[in-house]
Amino acid sequence: MPEGSSEQQQLRLLQAALDHINQGFTAFDGELRLVGRNKHFFDLLEFPEHLAEIGTHFSEFMRHNAERGEYGDGDIETLVSERVEIARSFRPHYLERVRPNGDVIAVKGDPLPGGGFVTTYTDITDQRQREEALEQAVAERTSDLRHSEERLRLITDAIPALIAYIDTRPCYTFANRRYASWFGLSVAAMQDRPVVEVLGESLFEELEPRIERALNGEEMTYEYRRKGPSGAYADMRSTLLPDVDPAGMVRGCFVLSLDVTEQNQREAALRQSQKMEAIGQLTGGVAHDFNNLLTIILGNLKDVKARADDDEDLVELVEPAIEAANRGASLISRLLAFARGGAVDPRPIDVAATLNDLARLLRRSLPSSIEIVVQIKDAPRPTRVDRSQLENALLNLALNARDAMNGSGRILYAVGEERLEAERAAELELQPGDYVRIDVEDDGMGMSEVTRQRAFEPFYTTKTFGAGNGLGLSTVYGFARHASGTVALRSQPGDGCCITLYLPCADRAGTDSAPDEAFEDPDATPLAEGQGELVLLVEDDAAVRAVVRRQLIDLGFSVLEAEDAEEALEMIRSIGEIRYLVSDIIMPGEMNGIALARQAKSITPTIKVGLISGFAQGQDREALAGCPFPVLPKPFATEALAGLIGRSA
Ligand SMILES: Nc1ncnc2c1ncn2[C@@H]1O[C@H](COP(=O)(O)OP(=O)(O)OP(=O)(O)O)[C@@H](O)[C@H]1O
Ligand SMILES: [Mg+2]
Repeated sequence: MPEGSSEQQQLRLLQAALDHINQGFTAFDGELRLVGRNKHFFDLLEFPEHLAEIGTHFSEFMRHNAERGEYGDGDIETLVSERVEIARSFRPHYLERVRPNGDVIAVKGDPLPGGGFVTTYTDITDQRQREEALEQAVAERTSDLRHSEERLRLITDAIPALIAYIDTRPCYTFANRRYASWFGLSVAAMQDRPVVEVLGESLFEELEPRIERALNGEEMTYEYRRKGPSGAYADMRSTLLPDVDPAGMVRGCFVLSLDVTEQNQREAALRQSQKMEAIGQLTGGVAHDFNNLLTIILGNLKDVKARADDDEDLVELVEPAIEAANRGASLISRLLAFARGGAVDPRPIDVAATLNDLARLLRRSLPSSIEIVVQIKDAPRPTRVDRSQLENALLNLALNARDAMNGSGRILYAVGEERLEAERAAELELQPGDYVRIDVEDDGMGMSEVTRQRAFEPFYTTKTFGAGNGLGLSTVYGFARHASGTVALRSQPGDGCCITLYLPCADRAGTDSAPDEAFEDPDATPLAEGQGELVLLVEDDAAVRAVVRRQLIDLGFSVLEAEDAEEALEMIRSIGEIRYLVSDIIMPGEMNGIALARQAKSITPTIKVGLISGFAQGQDREALAGCPFPVLPKPFATEALAGLIGRSA
């Protein structure tokens, strides 16, 4: 076989191999004449077969392309010569060409060592399509995400909580509007801000250990106090929730903070009012028992004194005892004033006039180094209270102010009207409405935090033994609460004290004064003197009964005794001569003194009733509501009992 034919054989084999490749292939020599190509090149670029001829000039291909519009608009010759020119430079090149039919062809050319160049053509249409689809999907996802992020922001901005996300640096990567504005920043300004910059050095130092623990995967909840954007201190309760990835790594933590200032204040106020309520019940009960005891002590001591008229030694012993028991009785009545509001005779009172009178009295009795100032802001409407209780309260406050001063200073009484809207009223535990507001302000030494919290408790005093009983402010508190008002307190150590009384304006003051009118000033009523008339005395405590019985006998009455209502009713039914019924109000058994009195009246209409009570100071307002019988508080002197019988109805 001639050599040529084996060479041709090899060439054919080579061509077959080239045709087998899944890429187009061409080789041009230094003159830009085609020296090699494969079948795929023609398939891919749809060149006519005649161009496949070895030796075809490069420009023929360019012309064919230009003519069929592959290079866009323009002069054919120019389009061709430009390309030929570039090809002549034989520089390596890569380009992606989009054919009019949309196919994307990657063209990669490299010079050949002896001149000319070899080029491969790859169809990357699918690849490009996949990439584009991917890009589109990514763009859509991003837009979805942005949308859901916006929704999330809308939601987090609407929630009344401070929400943020801290990464491990630690910097903020998210903060809702509330969070940002709480720190005086915009949401955008929070982005990527170091936590220390936002919290400030000192707060960061305080919270850093917690943030660190949260970033170590521990959920943390804690409270702290910080000056809020308004300048007022706020209590914040924060939870740090670690954000852990599926591999268990902490990526950062969510921060959820709530302003719990109001909640804390409400809880503290509730605790305070529950405490006062409990103390009120306790002292009320104790006072009731003490009144019974004092009735016995005083009654018997007075009896001893009466019998010891000519024995001076005995009188000397008895008198201080009576004096002490009387002091005890007045203490108890102050206690009851706290617990039950005291015996009251509410009338519309002009507070401004009362203050002016009181100021006059105080100027006379306090040292002249203490200035008393009365400030009346547009004369307020009257308030329905017991005048002597109001005076007593204002006097107590003046005495406290005096005691808080070092001999000299200023006491300011300011009075005006204030309308309490729902929110402020709720804070003060009052009904919304118009109130007479009295501020009693001094420039004394002020109160410590502990004193401020306990000042209204009965028996809380910082004064030395004997100098104070700790009943002044509790009486003021009891008076104000029972007048449907309240008392508030503002004081700093070393910076004076201001006590504010709120009392409802008269036109909306409670109308529950009926029971109180049952209490009358015992001194102002005619004293009864007995002529042996029959009195039925009903009292469950035997010792008290013995004292009252003696007092009645001293007054000239004959006395029958009963231990409870049932026994009393039996006596009334069988003994028509009973003229008076003197009964305790609170008694064991079904029936109290008031019910007994009503029944007695239905049996013997002419019977006259007077009631005695250990609470006797607004106790059981409901039971006493509309009670037509006079009531005498225990303990009482014989004259007061005479007054009760004189008023009996
Ligand atoms: N204006 C004031 N300035 C400073 N501290 C006061 C003032 N008013 C009251 N306090 C404090 O509150 C405590 C309780 O006062 P409160 O009037 O109830 O009792 P007291 O004055 O100690 O005794 P009492 O009034 O029974 O004689 C006082 O002991 C005092 O520490
Ligand atoms: Mg006092």
